[in-house]
Amino acid sequence: MLVDLRPTERLRKDNGAAVASVLGSIMHAVGDESLDLDHLRIVCDWVQYKNSFREAVEIRPILNGSAHEQLEIGVDLRRTASTQYDVNAEMSRALARRDESDRHHLEPWGRTTASLIWSFNSLYWKALGLWEAVSGRPYEQALPGGESDARNAAAARDTITRLFAIWDGLAERRALPDQLHVLEIGVGNGSQARVWLDTFVEIDREAGRDYYRRLHYLMGDYSPHLLDVARAQVRHHEDHTSTIVLDATKPSNTLGFLKYKTFFVYISNVYDNLPTDEIARIDGHLFQVETRAYLAAAPAAAIAASINATAGELPDLIARLLRLGPELLAETEPRRFADAHAAVRFWAAVWEAIGLEERYVALPPLDEYEFAPGINGEVLRPLMEAHGDVRMHVSNGAAASFVDTLPLLHPHGILECHDIFVTNLEGYANAFRGPGKYEGSVVNWVNGNVLAALGGRRGFDVAFRKFAFRTGSNITTMTAEVRE
Ligand SMILES: C[S@@+](CC[C@H](N)C(=O)[O-])C[C@H]1O[C@@H](n2cnc3c(N)ncnc32)[C@H](O)[C@@H]1O
Repeated sequence: MLVDLRPTERLRKDNGAAVASVLGSIMHAVGDESLDLDHLRIVCDWVQYKNSFREAVEIRPILNGSAHEQLEIGVDLRRTASTQYDVNAEMSRALARRDESDRHHLEPWGRTTASLIWSFNSLYWKALGLWEAVSGRPYEQALPGGESDARNAAAARDTITRLFAIWDGLAERRALPDQLHVLEIGVGNGSQARVWLDTFVEIDREAGRDYYRRLHYLMGDYSPHLLDVARAQVRHHEDHTSTIVLDATKPSNTLGFLKYKTFFVYISNVYDNLPTDEIARIDGHLFQVETRAYLAAAPAAAIAASINATAGELPDLIARLLRLGPELLAETEPRRFADAHAAVRFWAAVWEAIGLEERYVALPPLDEYEFAPGINGEVLRPLMEAHGDVRMHVSNGAAASFVDTLPLLHPHGILECHDIFVTNLEGYANAFRGPGKYEGSVVNWVNGNVLAALGGRRGFDVAFRKFAFRTGSNITTMTAEVRE
């Protein structure tokens, strides 16, 4: 039996006694059950997100194709270490569920990138106005630190100064095009664009270059609602900005006209919001983490009762919510939802209750694992082979977005990304990296190793440094530039 205690930082704090007591309870529960200890793993994470898709105790079958099915018991130390928590009872319930589940499953097992949690995520951004009206909380308040580092003026100044140096060099060689294109993907409420453009104007005045006259700042997002909000933020720059609806995972589909022309691509807190799978190496074998979304019996009953439905009707209502959005759902189901706000309350209750069951399934050979369009899993091999057993995110959506954005860059252009990155695979062993829920959206740390490998193969230098403009920030700045 293997016991893996992941949250090393947390264990160093004052939690030692509580964690010891959780471990004692686990050993007790395991002893009572007829579990094959030879095939048992216990993995303890400290799930820092107030809301996530995990129960405090999870059972994860490891389907290795042999008669001896292994089992992983996942424990969230943060919740189980609290004094009111009865770990024994929770373990027994989780183990009993293996034989008879009382959960309402909302989808079949599959890769997490295919899960409906991503439809919830995109609904959140597209119907954010309604969500915020009902919750009373703007999305930025839900970010760690209460605001986005994207609107940090010192960070903007740093980048713009670098851009000016590049443009000065090109101008000297008479190689500077007339139009200076900048692209932001995933603009949120447009605060970053406003700070960036205001700072640009200041620096341009100070430097007397007249670059602002030639600047064109394009804001891309898949949420028309947010593009409207962002456009309003930068109204005073309206001659130099435009907005475009695009899918961040395939920017080239919409932005082909910018190929090799964009001097600066900015993307902040978006990669952590794009779909991702997880893969794992267990005892030297590779596995895909498969998931399926469910509602536990008690919240399903309460939610169903609140709209005069049965729990059995929920999967269909949820599918319609995701397809139609809250406004149309309320129109088509007036008996259940008095108005769009009532449909949003239903949505929020479902979202809060949604969990993801997990199991490990043997991964196909890496060269057959397509983790983003046109990219097979070969790029993962060095990562999976060099580090022993590991469970990590593949960052499929971020990888697709990154690879499809690079061709838009001018040969002297820079892609800059602010996000939560794991840049060293050790990072997966010492903390929980998602998925978590922020308001109605999904968050996962981004596997920087994958992006660095993909960029490197395409002739780009990919560098990571700690975000330098706010102390205590866990944001990393990633840059990609054509290798000299
Ligand atoms: C967490 S917000 C970040 C906003 C802003 N960049 C910031 O740092 O505050 C994520 C943004 O990415 C957008 N987004 C998420 N997935 C996307 C996708 N697949 N295509 C386009 N935009 C997407 C959302 O609509 C939202 O504007």
